[in-house]
Amino acid sequence: MCGIIGVIGERNATPILVEGLKRLEYRGYDSAGIAVITRDGSIGITRSKGKLVNLENRLAESPCTGLVGIGHTRWATHGPPTEKNAHPHQSRRCAVVHNGIIENYQELRRELTGQGVTFASDTDTEVIPYLIDRELDRGAEPAEAVRAAIRLLQGAYALGILIQGADLLIAVRRGSPLILGIGEGENFIASDATPLVPYTRRMVYLNDDDLAVLTRTNVRITDLRGHAVERAVKISQVSADLTDKWPYRHFMQKEIHEQPTALGETLKGLIRASDLSVDLHDLQGEVDFSQVKAVNIIACGTSYHAGMVGSYWIEQLARLPVSVNIASEFRYREPPSLPDALTVVISQSGETADTLAALRFCRAQGQKVLGIVNVPESTIAREADGVLHTQAGPEIGVASTKAFTTQLMVLACLSLALARAHGRLTREVERASVEELMRVPARLEQVLLQDGVLQRIAGRFMNARGFLFMGRGTCFPIALEGALKLKEISYIHAEGYAAGEMKHGPIALIDEQLPVVAVAPRDPLFDKVVSNLEEARARGGRLVVITSGGHGEEKLPFAADHVIAMPACGMFAAPILYVVPLQLLAYHIAVLKGTDVDQPRNLAKSVTVE
Ligand code: F6R
Repeated sequence: MCGIIGVIGERNATPILVEGLKRLEYRGYDSAGIAVITRDGSIGITRSKGKLVNLENRLAESPCTGLVGIGHTRWATHGPPTEKNAHPHQSRRCAVVHNGIIENYQELRRELTGQGVTFASDTDTEVIPYLIDRELDRGAEPAEAVRAAIRLLQGAYALGILIQGADLLIAVRRGSPLILGIGEGENFIASDATPLVPYTRRMVYLNDDDLAVLTRTNVRITDLRGHAVERAVKISQVSADLTDKWPYRHFMQKEIHEQPTALGETLKGLIRASDLSVDLHDLQGEVDFSQVKAVNIIACGTSYHAGMVGSYWIEQLARLPVSVNIASEFRYREPPSLPDALTVVISQSGETADTLAALRFCRAQGQKVLGIVNVPESTIAREADGVLHTQAGPEIGVASTKAFTTQLMVLACLSLALARAHGRLTREVERASVEELMRVPARLEQVLLQDGVLQRIAGRFMNARGFLFMGRGTCFPIALEGALKLKEISYIHAEGYAAGEMKHGPIALIDEQLPVVAVAPRDPLFDKVVSNLEEARARGGRLVVITSGGHGEEKLPFAADHVIAMPACGMFAAPILYVVPLQLLAYHIAVLKGTDVDQPRNLAKSVTVE
């Protein structure tokens, strides 16, 4: 949520800032801006509403150069996405970029207004440069002025700060991610390593309440009292290649089609193919599964849906009680401490503010936390006791696809590992399960061949005013995920329901206009889903049924408007395979409607505010 970049060096900062913002645009894209200290020592700011390309055009018209600069790509929290609310925000002597939320900004704004400040934006951020100015006016040197200002802030922030007349860059962090890149004769700040790896691989991860002062040749980190603190330099493994979507039209499309490879890569770290056994050799850190008495899964959005699927598997195989929690609800519910429970936090980005807060909450209560994370150097990956990485590679499309299916792959193996640690997994079941998981990539290739069918169905329903998705068992969360995908990229309202819950209310929505998508693998619940589908059909609903046929299985026992034929599969493969037609359906409807598939409105890839 908002991307920050900053540089101090010997070359023009502007292209570094703009290139960096391109790599951070997934964090927010409703406005962007840069500030540089120009040759005459003043601060020059260029900002623009909308995508980064608008900022680039503006900089092409009136170039802005300097050796020290900060940049920002915004996901609006306070104030609409207009140019006046774009960062950097500026006072007389100071420019600031901010990721996070200042919770007490209204009180600070009132105080500063009373002291004669006139604010130019609606943002919470704008109080910060004025608070720093006030300290500079009182005679504080730059770092002390920033320190005094942030002592007044409540909330979360990662800040990049320029001060007129000072040949340095200041970075501060509390809650929101911020790292330093250590170069040769140049130093950097950024929200994550992606924009920095073209220049340096040497990164310093700031802790909360660290304040860093960067010059070209030096980085000094202090705590809030001004005492020097040591932070290790880590070598980043993040790829420097700017991911290319070729030959696909969108990153989301590419990422859907990358799933067989991503799943195969993920599985490699979780099993031993030679004897078809589960072997979580990719697990980093220490977690003793045999001591676990309950499992507490916490995540947001699509990752939460993965957690829901995982809960069915863990309960069924390991016979451990599982609770699945939406991260933003969990902590405020004041849940009792469960010292013998394993908390599993699931996050593609590894930066989601609510999930991270839940992780910290559980660790503070003495629980072991296992992270399932896609971004290897993310905060959640660094703070969890143990980490299982999804090997999906960078996911650029805002709508999560390959991260989701690889999360499911990890959860499948985790449930087997937990079952074995509790003596509840026979060798026979282990072998059959691992074999089934190993077949998933090839089966998924088969599912992807249905692309054309889903494109045609998308054409048929693109103007529907709503959609209903339904499923049972592990395919209930898949129905939720199908509805989420459709909503977020095509802006069509959609509901996901447990098929058995339809008659308790949502069935009232069904008429001849409503597409009802059923996720119906031939599992023990199939007949029950069929009954629910009959109920929908009796009320005129347009049925799209995703199911398997042939291979000795009976054809669908009633007429559906469209059937997506799936390969036969078992309990682990079903949710992984069955979500893919839903991803493709959402994708094709969005393309036909002409929405911005990879950067849908109002969303961001990394949600670092509560
Ligand atoms: C939907 C989507 C979001 C994320 C959610 C959590 O397609 O991507 O719902 O799943 O914001 O993000 P992570 O997994 O990064 O914690």
